[in-house]
Amino acid sequence: MEVKTSLLDNMIGVGDMVLLEPLSEDSFLDNLRKRFDHNEIYTYIGSVVISMNPYRSLPIYTPDKVEEYRNRNFYELSPHIYALADEAYRSLRDQDKDQCILITGESGAGKTEASKLVMSYVAAVCGKGQEVNKVKEQLLQSNPVLEAFGNAKTVRNDNSSRFGKYMDIEFDFKGDPLGGVISNYLLEKSRVVKQPRGERNFHIFYQLLSGASDDTLKQLKLDRDFSKYNYLSLDSAVVNGLDDAANFRTVRNAMQIVGFMEDEVQSVLELVAAVLKLGNIEFKPESRCNGTDESRIKDKNDLKEMCELLGIEQSVLERAFSYRTVEAKMEKVSTTLNVSQAYYARDALAKNLYSRLFTWLVSRINESIKAQAKTRHKVMGVLDIYGFEIFEDNSFEQFIINYCNEKLQQIFIELTLREEQEEYVREGIEWTNIEYFNNAIICDLIENNQNGILAMLDEECLRPGTVTDETFLDKLNTICAEHQHFESRLSKNSKFLTDHSLPHNCFRIQHYAGKVLYRVEGFVDKNNDLLYRDLSQAMYKANHSLIKQLFPEGNPAKVNLKRPLTAGSQFKTSVGTLMKNLQTKNPNYIRCIKPNDKKASHIFTDSLVRHQVRYLGLMENVRVRRAGYAFRQAYEPCLERYKMLCKKTWPHWRGPAREGVEVLMADLQVPAEEFSYGRSKIFIRNPRTLFFLEERRRQCLQDLATLIQKIYRGWKCRSQFLLLKQSQIVVAAWYRRFAQQKKYQNIKSATTVVQSYTRGWQARKLLRELKYQKRCEEAVTTIAAFWHGTQARRELRRLKEEARRKHAVAVIWAYWQGLKVRREYRKFFRANAGKKIYDFTIQRIMQKYFLGLKTTLPSMSPIDKNWPARPYRFLDGVHTELRRIFHLWRCKKYRGQFTEERKAVYEEKLEASEIFKDKKALYPSSVSQPFKGDYLEISKNPKYQKLNSAVDEKVLLADVVNKINRANGKGTARIFLLTKKSVVLADQKTGQVKASVPLPDVASVSVSTQSDGFFALKLKEGSASAVKGDFLLSSEHLIEIITKLHRIGVTAADREQLNIDISDEFLVQFKQDKVCVKFIQGGPKNGSGVSCKRKNNRLLEVSVPTTA
Ligand SMILES: Nc1ncnc2c1ncn2[C@@H]1O[C@H](COP(=O)(O)OP(=O)(O)OP(=O)(O)O)[C@@H](O)[C@H]1O
Ligand SMILES: [Mg+2]
Repeated sequence: MEVKTSLLDNMIGVGDMVLLEPLSEDSFLDNLRKRFDHNEIYTYIGSVVISMNPYRSLPIYTPDKVEEYRNRNFYELSPHIYALADEAYRSLRDQDKDQCILITGESGAGKTEASKLVMSYVAAVCGKGQEVNKVKEQLLQSNPVLEAFGNAKTVRNDNSSRFGKYMDIEFDFKGDPLGGVISNYLLEKSRVVKQPRGERNFHIFYQLLSGASDDTLKQLKLDRDFSKYNYLSLDSAVVNGLDDAANFRTVRNAMQIVGFMEDEVQSVLELVAAVLKLGNIEFKPESRCNGTDESRIKDKNDLKEMCELLGIEQSVLERAFSYRTVEAKMEKVSTTLNVSQAYYARDALAKNLYSRLFTWLVSRINESIKAQAKTRHKVMGVLDIYGFEIFEDNSFEQFIINYCNEKLQQIFIELTLREEQEEYVREGIEWTNIEYFNNAIICDLIENNQNGILAMLDEECLRPGTVTDETFLDKLNTICAEHQHFESRLSKNSKFLTDHSLPHNCFRIQHYAGKVLYRVEGFVDKNNDLLYRDLSQAMYKANHSLIKQLFPEGNPAKVNLKRPLTAGSQFKTSVGTLMKNLQTKNPNYIRCIKPNDKKASHIFTDSLVRHQVRYLGLMENVRVRRAGYAFRQAYEPCLERYKMLCKKTWPHWRGPAREGVEVLMADLQVPAEEFSYGRSKIFIRNPRTLFFLEERRRQCLQDLATLIQKIYRGWKCRSQFLLLKQSQIVVAAWYRRFAQQKKYQNIKSATTVVQSYTRGWQARKLLRELKYQKRCEEAVTTIAAFWHGTQARRELRRLKEEARRKHAVAVIWAYWQGLKVRREYRKFFRANAGKKIYDFTIQRIMQKYFLGLKTTLPSMSPIDKNWPARPYRFLDGVHTELRRIFHLWRCKKYRGQFTEERKAVYEEKLEASEIFKDKKALYPSSVSQPFKGDYLEISKNPKYQKLNSAVDEKVLLADVVNKINRANGKGTARIFLLTKKSVVLADQKTGQVKASVPLPDVASVSVSTQSDGFFALKLKEGSASAVKGDFLLSSEHLIEIITKLHRIGVTAADREQLNIDISDEFLVQFKQDKVCVKFIQGGPKNGSGVSCKRKNNRLLEVSVPTTA
């Protein structure tokens, strides 16, 4: 493949430490610092990547970067973790070599981040497709879950991994991911019950309390307040830049993607909650009669809630906290626990619960991400294990962690050297031995089966008799005293007898990464990792499937009296397996370095980095790499890069690449001892030689650039000149064409102007002639007209004169004739003839008027309004007076025809009009109805005979009315009889008298102004009839009834006149209540739509159709 760029381009410092010249620790650090200051956090040592933690996000992990590094050779681009990931992935896919990526460095150096970057790179470049994407997503999402449960904030790192993780990602032959397997190593479970100052418990506790919904917390019987839980250190409970609530949601989402069922998630959270509750259980001493103290639970509430959460019987757990049963050879001995033992038991349970939950989580994730296909897989392992730790106070955990790092260093040394060696053999180059520090001796100090520290610790734990941390230290002092990497004050090695930096209860190991002082306190306990059997049995009894699974040893049916493996030996075995596994794979190293202790960007603490460079053995790594040859490169890219240095190879070399390189080297006269030819690569011994080549290349590139520039400029000027020339011809042609066109246009327009002027002149001339001709014709006409006018006027004047004369003659003649007649008849006229003629004329006129009036008189109907028009104006007064007289006479005549009865009828009508006219809307319709009085013909109808006989007086009015029910406003038909003395109401069917009211008892009558027939007979208060209350009746002949009632009052001299009240709202007395009867307009206009409703106690509403 053609190489276009190289690691060597635009280097800041040197991108590969192997090229460092001169090589010293200072120059090494300077180079790291220089690159770090320019945001170059990655540097190579050969194929090893050194990664500096930038403590800030850099824009170097974008999808563009992924594309840039995809399928490129390792040294082709500037150093990057993606280059390593790409190299590993491609050799896995294309060369079928299993890979492992070993990420080492101390806590906070960026191992976990690096492992995630590698995984995300591989996920981005490997195959795509629905199934593949699902697998990728599950693999990536396993990280947040494990980080939540296995990471915590420590003083060194806000997201420190408190467990070791090795993940095998499995690929098919095409390089598509199939699944994975995760192995976890020794979770730092002591953190569950106690955290050092400035540190936190595992993230999940804080995430659960901050991020879970109120409902979930209630279900888990938890409170959001961290301070309520003894196991949560309040110290730095909230970490800057860490959003626990949001992370909780991320974790839940990740669990769902990985494939956890909802009930599994719930169980996991219940266990987390149970651990928190467990921490709140406290004990108090209770004295027994034998003088010993026995522990009792102080407040059982937390215990109760925890038992409810896990489905454990409270009494069982309570007992397990108070007693310990020891079984040995069919014997069972039960002893009581004192308070400190109870606390020990509680914490042991919490630690076990949590660490077993964590192991379960890993196996559950493995179940989900397990590769389905049974075919052979290619495997890429990513190892992210806790970094080397040196604390002020180092305990069993640090010992184990550092042992693991020691092993990794060893495998690093072994594999690096082996690889180097193998390459030389492969390339056929002679191997020279290299000096380096081999830490196998330290590993041996720890893991040797006979006298290794771990073996002795196990021995001590299993030994009968009193075993304490001190006896363990004694043992170490006797057995390891002579070991050159072991230091202890009380060892036989007199060298340390006076070393005051070494306390009596400690021992020190000189690790490859530095000396670490371990305090022996807790070693035995932690190695034993003892959980009282009573507790595991209590847990097994839980009615909670997950808890049951976590404590299988609690099953009474499977009591195993054998001691379980110690933590140390378990760890040793798993590390051994891991190492074996790693040795079968092609290693790729990422060495993480922490630039400062402050978790700050841009700070490079020299001493800290120097220390890491030392213990990571980076200098040795460079030396090993350079011991043989500092630089190697395949022939093709080498020739491609340097071919311009020799005329024979420039610009093209036709033969094999190796020969080209040989020609090149000979031409450049590089001394033969400075390089060797391998099978596919050239090996350069000294970086100086490489830099010489690079320098020559740089110079040559400059010359080449000048040459290219010169040729380019010449070419550019020439082509520009030709272009200009071409353009000039085109422009000239266009211009000429344009000028000719313009000239032609000018001539054309001038011709048009001249032409138009000539035509205009000719036209004007013609016009002038025509106008003159027309004026002449008009002048002739005008003269002729004037002449004819003069003639006509002259003739008219003559004719008028003639007529005037004729008229004067006639007038004079008439006067003359009149004078002659008057003179002749004057003797025949008498003196008073004029007056007589006047009187005669007037008489004649009056006679004619009266006679005429006689024939044109109007009809005798008093309502006839006709009257003939007057013939003369002077008769105006007479004519009006005659009309009045005639009307009076006509009325008199009309009245004269009346019988007494009719007179009475009209009187009644008159009275009705006085009462109701313009007051009640019903009145106008009653005017044309005659007042019949007896509508029922009561005296004639035999049906009413009995009724008739019950009334002694003459019946003035008999009719059927509606009596309104006082309670509901409904009507009942009643016969209404009115006599001069009383009003009688009788049943319509039977004729039986229902009520008889003497008229004097009737105080007043109330009616509405509307067109309804309702009326209320109001009775005098205190009268006999008033007991039942007033009557509310409705009749079609309301006007007649009221008029008749009124008339009786008027005619009877001994009685007061009846009051008639006309209004739309009046009060009636119903027994005790006064009820307001209110009339409202509403309802349909036609039909009998008067309805009456009792609205409430006080209101009776009558709705009357709206009158038009
Ligand atoms: N490449 C990087 N870019 C940006 N920030 C980084 C990078 N690498 C590490 N960091 C920062 O450093 C912090 C610590 O890194 P990380 O958790 O990977 O350390 P570690 O080596 O795994 O430590 P431990 O051994 O405690 O688990 C991260 O949380 C992150 O803030
Ligand atoms: Mg980590």
